[in-house]
Amino acid sequence: MTMDQVRHCAASLPLGLALAAAGAWPMASTAAAAEQPITALDLSRCTQGFGEPGIDKSVEGHPLSIAGTHFAHGLGSHAEMQLPIDLKKAATRFTATVGVDDETDGKGSIEFRVIGDGKRLWSSGVMHGKDAAKSIDIPLAGIAKLILVVTDGGDGIAYDHADWSDAVITYQGAAPESLVVNEPKVVLTPKSAPTPRINGAKVVGVRPGSPFLFTVAATGERPLHFEAVDLPAGLTLDGSTGIITGVLTQRGEHDAVVTASNALGKATRHLRIVVSDRLALTPPMGWNSWNCFASAVTEANIYAAADAFVKAGLRDHGWTYVNIDDFWMPKNRDADATLHGDERSADGKINANPRFPSMKKLTERIHSLGLKAGIYSSPGPTTCGGCVSSYHHERLDAERIAEWGFDYLKYDWCSYGEVEKGEGLEYLKKPYILMGGMLRAQPRDILFSLCQYGMGDVWNWGEQVGGNCWRTTGDITDSWGSMSSIGFNQAGHEVGAGPGHWNDPDMLVVGWVGWGPSLHPTRLTGNEQYTHISLWSLLSAPLLIGCDLTKLDEFTLNLLTNDEVIEVNQDPAGFQARRIIKGDESEVWAKTLEDGSKAVGLFNLGEEEKPVRISWHDLELSGPLHVRDLWRQQDLGIQEDAFQATVPRHGVVLIKVAKPPVP
Ligand code: GAL
Repeated sequence: MTMDQVRHCAASLPLGLALAAAGAWPMASTAAAAEQPITALDLSRCTQGFGEPGIDKSVEGHPLSIAGTHFAHGLGSHAEMQLPIDLKKAATRFTATVGVDDETDGKGSIEFRVIGDGKRLWSSGVMHGKDAAKSIDIPLAGIAKLILVVTDGGDGIAYDHADWSDAVITYQGAAPESLVVNEPKVVLTPKSAPTPRINGAKVVGVRPGSPFLFTVAATGERPLHFEAVDLPAGLTLDGSTGIITGVLTQRGEHDAVVTASNALGKATRHLRIVVSDRLALTPPMGWNSWNCFASAVTEANIYAAADAFVKAGLRDHGWTYVNIDDFWMPKNRDADATLHGDERSADGKINANPRFPSMKKLTERIHSLGLKAGIYSSPGPTTCGGCVSSYHHERLDAERIAEWGFDYLKYDWCSYGEVEKGEGLEYLKKPYILMGGMLRAQPRDILFSLCQYGMGDVWNWGEQVGGNCWRTTGDITDSWGSMSSIGFNQAGHEVGAGPGHWNDPDMLVVGWVGWGPSLHPTRLTGNEQYTHISLWSLLSAPLLIGCDLTKLDEFTLNLLTNDEVIEVNQDPAGFQARRIIKGDESEVWAKTLEDGSKAVGLFNLGEEEKPVRISWHDLELSGPLHVRDLWRQQDLGIQEDAFQATVPRHGVVLIKVAKPPVP
């Protein structure tokens, strides 16, 4: 903080304070009153749903401006935003002028809130772009903790550019400081038992004639021995790895029984194999390079990720896809020579850049581990990162991807809108119908992941264009604002979800993330990460880990390997959770599972721990019901009519409720 920022300001104070500061009036404290602009605080503790906080400028770097009025000073932020401040009970006033920044051109809707010691001191109500600025002038005497909040106004964070202009805390004595939320990260998942347990998907789809690859995921002391009864002719199981391979030519369904055994015992499970045109009968689970390596990705990162699936034991819990995102293909207009190369081979098929010398060897290695491989392209001439992509080469690129041995394509809209103009749903569907058809013509199964950020309410038509999943939102970042506003805005999208077709609220932001090359531990607290994984599991979302798997710490690994939570995500019925209760700062979401039981998430979106309750009536169930805590894998007994839990700040209690077993 500079002297200029802490302005000792007896001269500009209201008369009483000025006199007191000058010593003319007796006051409890003899310290002079001072002002602290919030921009002088440590803003690395400010979380927001998009971009970085701007000091004396908007989130996009423009001069601050609300409804035509310019402000020289203030904080330019973005919903969902939170800045916790330790006032040390020394503050007297908070003043600011707030509104949506004019750079959104009238778009965006947000609500500013000022929270003091857990109570709402001030709220702007929902403000829209171009609304006149609102002034805040509130007393802070006696308050220890202040949180400045911007919510998304209830409709997602698009265009929610929030200006806290001239925002100043007046104090006497100790200066306010940003507060670190120092919650311990508590490991909740019990260690896997040494006895065998079979995990992951219970149903798998394959097309007739395509190569089949499925790994029976199992925990338990090694060595494990795998067997299968009633495996259809054409498939073989490797008894030492649990990897099933082969080809099935006839359409139909098979009910195989797989076992995993070791010296301590044996686990058995039914595995349904469906031979039809439908893939992704449960949400895909895996990893993607973007949220950690982004444009810095190399082949070595992908090999390391695949090896980590095995070494860290992720494969034993059902994690399967190892996906390369953008930047595997040439980008000649870039200073980085490792991206330079011929865009296409003589026959017109897309080439990889020199960072990826052999895609075929790479996918062979991934497959040899019982895992699957994913890749990325765009229907436009270039990807979002400016690399060459599939415009006018859709058939050739689909063939190339298949020859290389990939099992998954993320197809990202990016530059398509720059070369093809149009309107309406037909325009939005067209490039996906085209590539979907090309993928289906290949002699292997390639899961089709649409990425166009939810345009045209894609959840209503993604399945019709052959999508197995589709992004419903813009990009996630590792902040509470981003993750919570994306996750809790998925209500209503459940109409589009089911086996073979899933809503995708973007990839997971746990562990070491950073969009390459430098990484940092996720800025989500432990409880926020439990909320993230619980909500994505309830939503039947694709689970794509976004962190560097070579840097998995105990907490993150624990978070990703809770088999009872994963079972919620992988439930074969494929329902997406519905929001049952939307309180002011708490929500309850419930997902009906195959056996008629329900997985229920009790979420606290507020700043202080609080009780969250769900009645069986609201779940359309009748008691008594058996309750199980899924993160702790502990029975909580029988409850007649309802369940209530104390839920930590930004946290969750995830339970399963079921009819008690008949005695
Ligand atoms: C974005 C996409 C991200 C990532 C990136 C690559 O459009 O949403 O998930 O794929 O492009 O450039």
